Parts: sequence; C-alpha cells; structure tokens
Amino acid sequence: MAVRVGFIGTGGISRMHRRNLTQLPDVEIVAMCDVVEEKVQEAAAEHSARAYTDYRKMLRKGGLDVVYVCLPPFAHGKVENAVIKKGLHMFVEKPVHVDARKAAAIARKIQDAGLITATGYQDRYLDIIDTLQGLLRDHKPGMVMGYWMGGMPGVAWWRVKALSGGQAVEQTTHIFDMCRYLFGEVTEVYAGGTKGLMADVEDYDIEDASAVTLRFANGLVAVVFSACFLSVGNRGGLDIFCKDCFIEYKERKSITVHRKGVEPEQSMVENNYQLATDTAFINAIKTGDPSQIKSPYADAVRSLELSTAANKSMETGKPVRLKPIV
Ligand SMILES: NC(=O)c1ccc[n+]([C@@H]2O[C@H](COP(=O)([O-])OP(=O)(O)OC[C@H]3O[C@@H](n4cnc5c(N)ncnc54)[C@H](O)[C@@H]3O)[C@@H](O)[C@H]2O)c1
Repeated sequence: MAVRVGFIGTGGISRMHRRNLTQLPDVEIVAMCDVVEEKVQEAAAEHSARAYTDYRKMLRKGGLDVVYVCLPPFAHGKVENAVIKKGLHMFVEKPVHVDARKAAAIARKIQDAGLITATGYQDRYLDIIDTLQGLLRDHKPGMVMGYWMGGMPGVAWWRVKALSGGQAVEQTTHIFDMCRYLFGEVTEVYAGGTKGLMADVEDYDIEDASAVTLRFANGLVAVVFSACFLSVGNRGGLDIFCKDCFIEYKERKSITVHRKGVEPEQSMVENNYQLATDTAFINAIKTGDPSQIKSPYADAVRSLELSTAANKSMETGKPVRLKPIV
C-alpha cells in the first residue's frame, strides 16, 4: 500500500521534498496545508491533493501515514504536538524550533509515542561525507574552521530574530550539525557577533556576522564563521587541519585532501543527497526500520541547542556550557 503524505507548509523547501517524493514508488501526496490560500490551492492542484488552510482540519480529516512539517522556525511547536497526538510519523525541516527546550519536550513525546522522525539536515546524506568520515578515522583533526558566509535570504521572516532565530539557528545550523556529526558532541560555546551593516533593511534585527568557538567533548576546538551581508561571493563548509594533511570540505560540493609532496586529491558529490534524505525516511516508514535515517528529531534538537547556545553567548558575552537536552 502507498505511503500517504500530508504537507504543512508549501514554500520553497516543501517544493523540494514534493519533487523528491514524486520520484519514489508507492508514495502519494494526499493533503496540503498552508496559511496562504492561493499557495495551498496551487500546490494541492499539482498533486491532486486536498487543500487546507488549517492544519488541525487536515489532521482531523485523517487518511495520512506521515506529515512533512515544512514551516519557518517560529511556526513550529503546536503543529508537531498535534501530529504526535494523531500518532503520525513526521519529517520536520530544520531548524526544528526556535526554542531548544520546547523542542526537547516534543522529542520526548515522539519517543513515548514510538514515532519515526527525520529532519532536514540533508548534508549528512552527501556521499562525500561518508568519504570524509573514512578520512577522519585515519587523520586526527587538530583544529577546524567552519563557514556559512553568504547573502540574506529573501523571505521576510528570516531577518527577524524572534521569527528565525537569526543566522546561527537558521543557516549555520547546517555547519554546527555537521561538526557534531563528524567530531561528536560540543560541551561549550563562546561566540561574538556584529551588527550595523544592514541598517537599510526593514525589520532587520539579527547579527550581520559572528564567530562561534566550539569545544568538543573529545577536546577538539572549532571556530565557525557566519555572515549574511555579502552581495558577492560565498563560502560554506569546513577546513579540517590535521598533522599530516589538510582537508577542505566545500559545502555540498567537494572534499579536497592536501598532503605534502603530492597533488591535492578531490572527490566531488555524485549522489542526489536530497532525494536520499527523503528515501531514507520513506523506506523507514515502509519497513518500520529507522536505522538509515541519519538525522532523527531528537538528534536535530541537539543541533538547535548548539545554535541557541551560540545566540546566548553572543547576547551575554559569556561562554555557555551545553548539557544533553534530550
Ligand atoms: N534542509 C535545507 O537545506 C533547507 C533548505 C531551505 C529551507 N529549509 C528550511 O525550511 C523551512 C521553511 O523554509 P521555506 O524556504 O520553505 O520558507 P517559506 O517561507 O518559503 O515557506 C514556508 C511556508 O509555511 C507557511 N506557513 C507558515 N506558518 C504556517 C502554519 N502555521 N500552517 C501552515 N502553513 C504555514 C507559509 O505561508 C509559507 O508558505 C525553514 O526553516 C528553512 O530553514 C531547509
């Protein structure tokens, strides 16, 4: 029997998941919800799905196996709680909330209900990340530098801290999450941010740039740089410095290994990692085995905890200790 999917949120990322799901066998997109009527009608028509402007009505109507929650950061919480009450499995886009404690409470309910979850930390599904994990088994990192340097996304909620959580929560979370995936848990965060360059942008109240120092449980230190004011160029990824090599991970593009006396060795991304993210989730629903899901909800809460700790450190000027929140 086909897996019956409902979507809450029909924006940019929802479109990407729907494109993926239409490529998978035995998956039907049967219901769509968005608070903007025209958007939901258009999206629902594409899939011959039912359209709703209220997620509670969509959930009441039933007939769903899973729900994709593709909402902006501020809109998470009530929706997930309602989906859990209905006992439905859930894919939740990152960041899974703006408040790590509230997200941790949701994670506990998910666990109690025995639901299968996945989140949008899609970089974990890149084939080159498997290559990188292999390299890190042989080469111990001595220092790591991470980057999410780019321009400001156009969606109106992004520039408002209360709605998006700022760049650390909304974008750099991908880099923080990859750091956790590769190097283990972070125990302390110390961050500094700057403001002032984007005074001409209406409603803008987030940092323009930041530097976040992460101390890992294994003693490693990383510094992650963010900027959202660039009008030209961008830089995303990790520079991993080891004693006998230097590894460059260019976000979603390539891994290059530099060794003394030999030409740099480059591996390019070859898989469709976005499709792989949805495939892992749908297969888990079909088989009941979640072991191929690389970023379940509870794990994503830890990445949110890290991002919000960076914000707290920027606000207070003090280091923030992290304790396992879930
Ligand atoms: N995994 C990734 O790499 C990746 C890439 C892009 C975006 N995202 C994430 O996806 C999330 C959404 O981003 P987007 O670009 O699709 O945003 P968007 O603004 O384009 O779309 C969000 C949609 O949600 C709708 N919405 C808001 N509140 C709602 C509610 N209560 N009920 C129903 N609909 C509601 C809005 O009307 C809008 O159509 C963000 O958190 C973003 O970080 C992840």
